[in-house]
Amino acid sequence: MSPRDASIVLTGAAGGLGSAIARQLFDEGASLLLVGRSEGPLLALAQSLNAGARDRVRVDALVVDVTTEHGRAAIIDAAAARGANVLINNAAVAAFGPAQGLQADLARRVVDTNIAAPMLLTAGMLPMLLTRTQAQVLNIGSTLGSLGVPGFSAYAASKAALRIYSEALRRELADTRVRVQYYAPRAIDTAFNSPQVQAFNQATGSASDTPEVIARGVSRMLHSGSRQRFAGGFESIAARLNGLCPEWLDSAFAKHRRALMSLKFPSGASS
Ligand SMILES: NC(=O)c1ccc[n+]([C@@H]2O[C@H](COP(=O)([O-])OP(=O)(O)OC[C@H]3O[C@@H](n4cnc5c(N)ncnc54)[C@H](OP(=O)(O)O)[C@@H]3O)[C@@H](O)[C@H]2O)c1
Repeated sequence: MSPRDASIVLTGAAGGLGSAIARQLFDEGASLLLVGRSEGPLLALAQSLNAGARDRVRVDALVVDVTTEHGRAAIIDAAAARGANVLINNAAVAAFGPAQGLQADLARRVVDTNIAAPMLLTAGMLPMLLTRTQAQVLNIGSTLGSLGVPGFSAYAASKAALRIYSEALRRELADTRVRVQYYAPRAIDTAFNSPQVQAFNQATGSASDTPEVIARGVSRMLHSGSRQRFAGGFESIAARLNGLCPEWLDSAFAKHRRALMSLKFPSGASS
């Protein structure tokens, strides 16, 4: 779909990637409902985009928590009022550290934010999306959703769940006008990554992209309607190879184990 025809609900909109996606798609003519919990950054983003609009106001902000039922109900109501035809599930929380340090609160937040919320928001918006002449659900995953990397067990599990959810939904809706897409970035230079993750990525030589590069990838996916895309040539091949035969890659993660062991975590917790 052309961004000019898109009325988009974007979760996690004020974050590093979310704000880059919002700017990219706004510049290309899309209307946006920006969703997030932090009022200040969200309203500032909406204001700065609308200030640059030569035509009608195309951006609204909705301050809600996607993990709550009333938050999702408010998104669905606002989406219906705007005639939304695209949902981008981008909000997520990070988790990194030795698996034995995982705390119950973080485990719940990872599951609630990264997989339960996108599934439930999609479920709530589908009746409306199915009435549109064209509609798209674009889920932001991660290379780690296809490649289990030491230190990211909880986060990777949530993104793997989002990947297979997207695949099953895509097949379920194949005879409808709703396209389901999954985009898996590799590391992105945003505040999502704690100092420990940055040190880990440096020690393991993990490549990263700017949010603007990934936002352009999201725009290309919106245009093309393609089903699944991985950022990075090497990461794309590794993810696909791992899908075929994960044991082949096990020995490649010794340096990741060493890097994880060398890092300090406050009282053994994840960051
Ligand atoms: N950064 C990376 O290295 C990387 C790599 C691959 C994939 N990704 C994926 O890219 C996406 C964006 O990440 P990012 O790097 O932009 O991270 P980010 O800067 O931390 O942005 C995440 C956004 O999600 C929002 N959010 C979190 N919990 C929420 C909730 N319960 N309700 C509503 N909004 C919530 C946060 O806003 P509030 O706190 O204001 O609510 C924040 O704006 C995520 O899906 C992430 O998994 C990131």
